Amino acid sequence: MDNEIDLGQIDINSEPPIEEPARQYYFMAKCREWVREFERKNGRRPCFFTQTFGCQMNAKDSEKLAGILEAVGFLEADGEDADFVLYNTCTVRENANQRVYGRLGQLGVLKKKRPWMLIALCGCMMQEKEVIKKLKASYPFVDLIFGTHNIFQLAELLFRCLDQQKPVVEVWEETDKIVEKLPAQRKYSFKSGVNIMFGCNNFCSYCIVPYVRGRERSRSPQEIIREIKALAADGVVEVMLLGQNVNSYGKTLDKPVSFARLLEEVEQVEGIKRIRFMTSHPKDLSDELIEVMSRSVKVCPHLHLPLQSGSSRILKQMNRKYTKEQYLALAEKIKEAVPGISLTTDIIVGFPGETEEDFLETLDVVEKVSFDSAFTFIYSKRTGTPAAAMADQVPYDVVKERFDRLLKRVQEISAKALSRHLHTVQEVLAEEVNTHDGRLITGRLGNNTLVHFPGGPKLIGSVVSVSLDEFKGFYYMGNLKE
Ligand code: SAH
Ligand code: SF4
Ligand code: F3S
Repeated sequence: MDNEIDLGQIDINSEPPIEEPARQYYFMAKCREWVREFERKNGRRPCFFTQTFGCQMNAKDSEKLAGILEAVGFLEADGEDADFVLYNTCTVRENANQRVYGRLGQLGVLKKKRPWMLIALCGCMMQEKEVIKKLKASYPFVDLIFGTHNIFQLAELLFRCLDQQKPVVEVWEETDKIVEKLPAQRKYSFKSGVNIMFGCNNFCSYCIVPYVRGRERSRSPQEIIREIKALAADGVVEVMLLGQNVNSYGKTLDKPVSFARLLEEVEQVEGIKRIRFMTSHPKDLSDELIEVMSRSVKVCPHLHLPLQSGSSRILKQMNRKYTKEQYLALAEKIKEAVPGISLTTDIIVGFPGETEEDFLETLDVVEKVSFDSAFTFIYSKRTGTPAAAMADQVPYDVVKERFDRLLKRVQEISAKALSRHLHTVQEVLAEEVNTHDGRLITGRLGNNTLVHFPGGPKLIGSVVSVSLDEFKGFYYMGNLKE
């Protein structure tokens, strides 16, 4: 598919085209010339290493970056002792940034020993002006910096960097463009993420994503279906539709399409057996979607529905646009319509002004909904967001104590909730050989729970029936059934 662009057809001595993606194909062909030259000089091909620091969308972007590098002839390395190291950064919480700076410090040391190395940074952190300033001042060995909006330009920017032999920094403030038909690497042969939209318009008051990812833009259903058909033809059986708020998919298209309609179209694609999606915002979750989920055989019975807080007062401050009662009613409605569905969530502890009473409301929702799992986060102040300027930032020790209490309760509840399928037979997608015991295969139920069972690598990528014989806290041990 898109990975089979014939770079040999491109005249690299002509002027670069203006239109995308033709322009990037041209620069890919230029980079390929450089790679060939490298190979002639060094007797080996150059290799690259990419590291993802963020969410599924960040990971998907890394696959696109790796796809471009492979198309121009780089080989993938499994560590930083590569010729080209690219960190795809995240800035959703401060600790994500700290990890990048830590790793970058080590890279600087490595580059002293390997001065020909090229070091590049991209992703959400690069959209922050303060970060760029700090990088220029303290990490001058970085060769290439680009942002989330021009990620498709990797080949062009890499070529500029190689050609000029000096650092390149190009970060766009925004874009309304979606560049299609560029190559992408695939981490797994049988499952793949598929972007359906980019950006976010919600401006939850704690969140930096709308500032670093820009306004919401949906891909056309035709492009999405084209990609999924090509993936299916290539052996993919599970797709994960990706967006910051998939429930508002399609609203800004010339011909608006609802997310529920898109799911129905994806369901028609032959060869696709499982459809997942991430993330749903409770405020936009429609009855139409619940209805499609209840009758679809391919859409997995799993909904990740971030709660953030159980206190209506805090939810208002967070600009989430729903109340505790509305969230509870929604969870009830979904559970009734899709029996056995797995509900999972995200929770932030210690949002400015959060009192013990507010926190108890969060615990109350956790009890009532009985989530299969919950990602719990300590509130992190993000410069430029409305919440960062709010009075009453909660002291760290208070937040930490609440966080520990929440985590303990979440773990107890999830262990109990997840065990509900014990002694049943379920369909499992066999995903990989178990990393601890080579005789076992690790797979997932439709609701995303992990199962380990005896089997061989031939099973990988197929959906098999497995009896769930033992429950181990958050996963099952099982056995294949005929
Ligand atoms: N678009 C998704 C979430 C993307 S960020 C949604 O709206 O659900 C993933 C999670 O990170 C969020 O759900 C939230 O729980 C958490 N998060 C975002 N900003 C945060 C911050 N400033 N501090 C702590 N956690 C945060
Ligand atoms: Fe952030 Fe809210 Fe957008 Fe999610 S919906 S990315 S939490 S602003
Ligand atoms: Fe992080 Fe950007 Fe995702 S900030 S969570 S990588 S959208």
